[in-house]
Amino acid sequence: MDFVILTLSVFILVILGYLVFVDTNPNSPPCIRGWIPWFGAAFEFGKAPLEFIAQARLKYGPVFTVFAAGKRLTFVTLHEDFHTFFMSKDVDFEQAVQEPVHNTASISKESFYKFHPACNSLIKGRLTQGNLSLLSSHLCEEFNYNLELLGSKGSGGLSDLVRSVMYPAVMSNLLGKCNSPSCPATVQEFKDKFRIYDEGFEYGSQLPDIFLREWAKSKQWLLSLLDNMIIKAEGSSRSTEAGTKTLLQHLVTTITDKFLPNYGLLMLWASLANAIPIAFWALAFILSNPSVHRKAVEQITEVLKNQDTAQTGVTAAELQKLSYLKWCILEAIRLRAPGAITRRVVRPIKIQNYTIPPGDLLMISPFWAHRNPKYFPDPEDFKPERWEKADLVKNVFLEGFVAFGGGRNQCPGRWYALMEIHMIVTLILYKYELTLLDPLPKPSTLHLVGTQQPAGPCRVQYKHR
Ligand code: HEM
Repeated sequence: MDFVILTLSVFILVILGYLVFVDTNPNSPPCIRGWIPWFGAAFEFGKAPLEFIAQARLKYGPVFTVFAAGKRLTFVTLHEDFHTFFMSKDVDFEQAVQEPVHNTASISKESFYKFHPACNSLIKGRLTQGNLSLLSSHLCEEFNYNLELLGSKGSGGLSDLVRSVMYPAVMSNLLGKCNSPSCPATVQEFKDKFRIYDEGFEYGSQLPDIFLREWAKSKQWLLSLLDNMIIKAEGSSRSTEAGTKTLLQHLVTTITDKFLPNYGLLMLWASLANAIPIAFWALAFILSNPSVHRKAVEQITEVLKNQDTAQTGVTAAELQKLSYLKWCILEAIRLRAPGAITRRVVRPIKIQNYTIPPGDLLMISPFWAHRNPKYFPDPEDFKPERWEKADLVKNVFLEGFVAFGGGRNQCPGRWYALMEIHMIVTLILYKYELTLLDPLPKPSTLHLVGTQQPAGPCRVQYKHR
């Protein structure tokens, strides 16, 4: 009995101490911390993070902290503060993502801090607008090849269809055809393992491998695949001309420690994980909107004329003429943008009237930022025409659009992303007559990392034109 009373007393004291002492700084933003020490608001937040952020914004104002699983996440929701988020020297990208990188790609802390800057510059340098023409015709061949494997007609999940084409095509395009698996059984195994890895990535970024056995096994399988691909890339590197080297061949000369395959896996994930849901949503929005569908197909037919629908060539110049389709893609990105992006506060930083303490993870939500009617009137509506105002020829997006982040760590793959999504959507709409068999699904509220996944099924019927 004494033991029970003692345990209860200690427990109550811990909770009281936690409630009284945590976060007493009067300049800190309001903090939602639940009542369970360490866990804080983790359960409520984890159930539906995007909805939680919207409710908290209404209740606590434009800057608020969520205390969850031992971490303080401070959300900044006003556009006027985004510049500080992206440009301030008091916040740091690497310190914010190091732990998730360790959990998802098993890269040590030392290696990450040593090689991340060079890795980032490499991707930025290889995927400039100017370099895209080196990649686009091969990507188009790969898309055609993988689309033809679907047969002349069929039906299935639209998301699965997009995945089964984009996974192998983008891997071959960025990491090299001769380095990528060619045997159909291995390609299928790659698709299955990569899907498990991608779907579990958000949980994998927070939890140790022992809690996610199937996911950890897929990660190991992918790492050994990357290991083999690197051996091939190293072999072929000497005989390849500098201008035609793949991203993997460049990576081989940049990363000089044992984590080279791990960086390869992370790069592959970054190139697919956000782009695939957007290709899905762009197609789903277009197909569920008859007038948009008609307009898009008319423009594609006008630009591509009477091409062979089995081997359709789409050049970078032709993509430029397909402006309406590009608006559709940007509108899909706007509506299904990443749930959150993050920086670590390294020195006290002032936002509104608050001082955010070092150690906090500073967060902005592109998903919610894109629903501000001041920047995007009728924010929930899919309106491709709103992009007419953007100066896309000069690569300027609409004001308030932050899907690719900003500052030094802005997405280095954004031009490649737009090109690959534009191309796959063009090819699918040109080659097939498509009908959606389900109503347009809502986005899932479960995820904060990356672009949004559909909450329900979305099947499609397709027939070769
Ligand atoms: C629609 C598709 C995409 C979206 C919405 C997207 C969005 C983002 C965002 C929000 C970030 C973080 C930026 C920040 O914190 O300021 C990021 C980082 C990154 N993205 Fe993308 N991305 C997409 C496609 C791609 C593609 C296709 C690639 C590669 C080919 C890529 C490579 C990367 C890499 C390597 C980083 C990390 C940058 C660093 O370490 O500093 N992304 N992306």
